[in-house]
Amino acid sequence: AQIHVIQRDGSKRTIEAPEGEPLMEALRDENTGVEGTCGGTCSCGTCHVYVAGDWQGKAGGRSDEEDMMLEALEEYVELRPGSRLACRIEVSNALDGLEVEIAPPVE
Ligand code: FES
Repeated sequence: AQIHVIQRDGSKRTIEAPEGEPLMEALRDENTGVEGTCGGTCSCGTCHVYVAGDWQGKAGGRSDEEDMMLEALEEYVELRPGSRLACRIEVSNALDGLEVEIAPPVE
């Protein structure tokens, strides 16, 4: 699926993300700024992205585990309605054209 990415410096890119795999892996492998330090186990918060408004429904809902991780990030970075952990989004055909913005790093 093609994923449109706004990187932290504001530059825009379109990457190809393999279907059936976590979005985090494609964002990490394409060097968009996502680190994925925990390897996709929902415990580092370095894969935080903002999903664009129109896509939030299609990207699915947050799990309780994801919600807890995002709440822990709130002290450091802005949370938005589209805040998601990219390791919790599985790329599918339905997400072709998805727009995400890489959230600021957690320092
Ligand atoms: Fe660590 Fe998603 S990769 S929380």
